[in-house]
Amino acid sequence: MIYLKNISIWKDTAREVDYPTMNEDKYTDVLIVGGGITGASVFYHLKDSGLKVILCEQNKIGHSVTGSSTGKLTFLQNDLIDKIRKIDEKLAAKYLNSQKFAIDLTLNIIDKEKIECDLKKTYSYIYTSKDNEIEKVIGLEKFLNKCGIKTIICRNDLVDSKYMFRVSDTYLFHPIKFVYGLLSDGDNIYENTSIKKIEKEGNYYICHTNDFKVKCKHVVIASHYPYFTIPYLFPIKGSLEKSYISASKYTTDIISLISYSNPFVSIRNYNDYLLYLSNSHPISSNVDDLKNYKELSKKIIDKKLKPEYYWSNIDIMTNDYLPYVGEIKDNLYIGTGYNTWGMTNGVLAGRLISDLIKGNKPELWDLFDPKRSNLNQALGAFSDIKDSMIGYLDGFFIKNDNIEYEFDEGKKVMIYKDGDKEYKVYHRCPHLGCGLIFNEVEKTFDCPCHGSRFDLEGKCISGPANEDIRVKSIDKYS
Ligand code: FES
Repeated sequence: MIYLKNISIWKDTAREVDYPTMNEDKYTDVLIVGGGITGASVFYHLKDSGLKVILCEQNKIGHSVTGSSTGKLTFLQNDLIDKIRKIDEKLAAKYLNSQKFAIDLTLNIIDKEKIECDLKKTYSYIYTSKDNEIEKVIGLEKFLNKCGIKTIICRNDLVDSKYMFRVSDTYLFHPIKFVYGLLSDGDNIYENTSIKKIEKEGNYYICHTNDFKVKCKHVVIASHYPYFTIPYLFPIKGSLEKSYISASKYTTDIISLISYSNPFVSIRNYNDYLLYLSNSHPISSNVDDLKNYKELSKKIIDKKLKPEYYWSNIDIMTNDYLPYVGEIKDNLYIGTGYNTWGMTNGVLAGRLISDLIKGNKPELWDLFDPKRSNLNQALGAFSDIKDSMIGYLDGFFIKNDNIEYEFDEGKKVMIYKDGDKEYKVYHRCPHLGCGLIFNEVEKTFDCPCHGSRFDLEGKCISGPANEDIRVKSIDKYS
C-alpha cells in the first residue's frame, strides 16, 4: 500500500523562498530560462560580470529536476566512464577530469559564499552483484588508478556485492539549498514565469511569456529538456530515463553508493534518512508507476526500512554519453543531457556557458559542444525514435484504472476524482500532442513521449512542455 509523502525529501526540507512573477516587459543582456542547478549556476557566474541577467523559472526555483535528484557530487558514475572509454579512452579521462573539476568548483563556491547546503564529504562506493561483471568493475578501477585516483576494495552491508571498491573526495549536499545559495542576493529572478516562445529579431531575441516580452542579446535554455525540439532534432539526440526514489528513516555512516550497471541502484543518506533509487527504465516502457513504486517499496521493505517519502525523477541520456553544453547558434545556449549526473554537470554547465557569454573559450567547451555529431549519436537516433513512438502509442492505448474518460467535441478528456474534488483535463500533452498517463502515486499527469508532467489542475510542473494542459473543469462537491 502506498501511503507516504509523494514529494522529494529536498522539497519537504528546504526553507520556503519565494520569488516574484514577472509583471512587465524587460530588456536584458542575458535571459536564463530555467531555475534549476544549471540556470542558477549560469546566473551565479554572471552576476558580477557587468552584464544584466534575468532568470525565469516556469514553476518554483530548484523544485523541478534538481529538486528530485539524489544530490550527489561524485566522479564515480555507474558505468558511464566505461561507456565513454569504449568510444575513446582519452575522452573518458577528459570527462573524468571535468567531473573532478566540477566538484572542486562547487566546493569553492560553497566555501566562498558560505552556502548552507548540508555538505558532507564521503567515500563513494561502486559495486556489482553479478559474477560476469566483476572484470568490468576491476577494469574501471584500473582506469581510475591510471588516472591517478586511489581506490580501495571493500564491502558494505547495505547491498549484496560480488565486488566493490570505493574512492574518496566525493560529496553529498542538499540540492535545493545549494541552488538557493547560488541565487542569494540576486535580483531579476522570477518564478511562475514561463517563456513560451523565442524569436530572433536582428541581433536580439524576443522571448515571450503569456503577457510580457523580454528583449535580450543572449538566451540560455537551462530547462532540462529544450522545448524548441523540432529545429534541433532533440528527440533523436537523447532518450529519457525515469527512476524512483524513496527516503526511509535509517541511521548509518555517511555513504554514497551505486551499482555498476542495470538494475541501477543509488544509495545515500541525508541526516537520519536513507535514500534508495532504483527501477530506472526508459520513459516509454514500464509506464505503470504504481507497479514501479510497489517494486521499489518491496526492495526497501525487504531491507527492513519503512519509507516515508517516494518520488520519481526523469533524466536525459545522450547517445554518446556526454552532455550537451554550449552555444547552439547566435548567442543561444543550452545545458542538458547529463546522463543522470546533473549535480556535477549542472555546475560545470553554469561555468562553461557563462564563460562563453563573456567571450572566453573555456577549456572543456569542445568536449560538451552541443553541435557535435558522431556515429554514436546517429546509431542512437533509431532507438530514440523507437522510444518516442512507443511513448506515443502508450499515451493513446494505456488506460488507468482510476481515470474515467469522456469526449468533448471529439477531444478526449481525463476525469480524476480525488475525495470531494473532480478534475477534468484534456488528454493531449501541449508539447507535441502525445496522450498523457496518470501517475497514481505522485498524482500527476505524465507524458510518456518526452517526460513533461502536470499537476491535477493541469499546471505544467516539468517540461519540455511550456504550456499547461487545457482544463475542462475542476469541481468540488460538498
Ligand atoms: Fe513531448 Fe509530451 S509530447 S513532452
